[in-house]
Amino acid sequence: MPLSRRDLFRAVPAAVAAGAVPQFATAADGLVVRMREPRNLETQLADLGPATTPTEAFYVRNHFPVPALDPKTFTLAVEGHVGKPLTLSLDDLQKMGTATLDITLECAGNGRVFLVPPARGLQWGHGAVGTAKWTGVALGAVLERAGVKAGAVDVVLVGADKGAIADPATPGPIPFDRGIPLAKAKADETLLAWHMNGAPLTADHGAPLRAVVGGWYGMASVKWLTRVVVTDRPYTGFWQTFDYSVWERAAAGPRLVPVTAIQPKAVVTSVGPGAVVKAAGFVLSGRAWAGEHAVAKVEFTLDGGKTWQPAKHDKGRPLGWVAWESGPLTAPAGVLRVAARCTDDKGTTQPEARDPDRRTYMINHLVPTEVTAK
Ligand code: MTE
Repeated sequence: MPLSRRDLFRAVPAAVAAGAVPQFATAADGLVVRMREPRNLETQLADLGPATTPTEAFYVRNHFPVPALDPKTFTLAVEGHVGKPLTLSLDDLQKMGTATLDITLECAGNGRVFLVPPARGLQWGHGAVGTAKWTGVALGAVLERAGVKAGAVDVVLVGADKGAIADPATPGPIPFDRGIPLAKAKADETLLAWHMNGAPLTADHGAPLRAVVGGWYGMASVKWLTRVVVTDRPYTGFWQTFDYSVWERAAAGPRLVPVTAIQPKAVVTSVGPGAVVKAAGFVLSGRAWAGEHAVAKVEFTLDGGKTWQPAKHDKGRPLGWVAWESGPLTAPAGVLRVAARCTDDKGTTQPEARDPDRRTYMINHLVPTEVTAK
């Protein structure tokens, strides 16, 4: 039986009280169903292990039904504050240059189920995150071809999917879109991608063309991309004002600003809530990432954050996650509260407590998992 939005919200307080992530139904391909239509699927903890996430295990975040776009007739319009508006086929784009980058995408709402008090929105556990090999052309090369005019401010990426939002009511159906500053649009890590993990994008992941904005939360990586519009003033569309915005304390008072870069975060993927581990010789492992920065340090705790020990990890690099591991551990029999935390190469460590100014986004505070050592 399909779960309604209300069912999902109702399930939260009990799940949080139990320290568990509600799993609900699991789709045939092993993803956890957070909403059936539009499809919203979460990667299971164990599948966050590999260096790149297989496409079939990669989380899916859709706001509207998936639009059907034919790659043969597909075109991308590049317009707005440019000298030469363009209409480009997939073939045109593929001839403009190709780069393949390993980039970690994390949904800005990843971890929302852990917010106290419970927050509205999809109740993601830790699994709205994944790393893929994205192949495409640098958005900067496309913008150069179109000749961005002086005074350009934002580059708005517009998807082909649309719908009407009820609360707050929109003026009819609106597309999913996202403006990013010109400098980020021109950065090497911002791609217009047609391949994910070496194969054409699947429908759920944005076929035939999507943006991948490396180092930023997933909302900027617009799928089913059909328009790129350069603006001469900051864009204030729905998806960066009402949604996907956080409070910033400014001199004149708090103001809402768009969510941008992924914050440092480490998760334990080797054990989930309620797991039983051997008191002598168990190993914790997981993944850590830090958006535009490299992971510089990963630590883990067995006592809910009272004491920390250093973890071994791969050399960090911007844009992608690293694997970390504790080495063999011995703990007294009983309940352990395990967690990991990450520090990036700018010295920013993920915080212990939740900052409510972040509304329901950018969730990287400490979330211990209860496991039993026997
Ligand atoms: N692009 C369009 N057109 N429509 C969407 O609903 N969701 C965004 C982004 N791009 C979305 C979109 C969000 S919030 C995230 S986290 C990522 O896509 C998820 O990408 P994925 O589904 O490939 O994992």
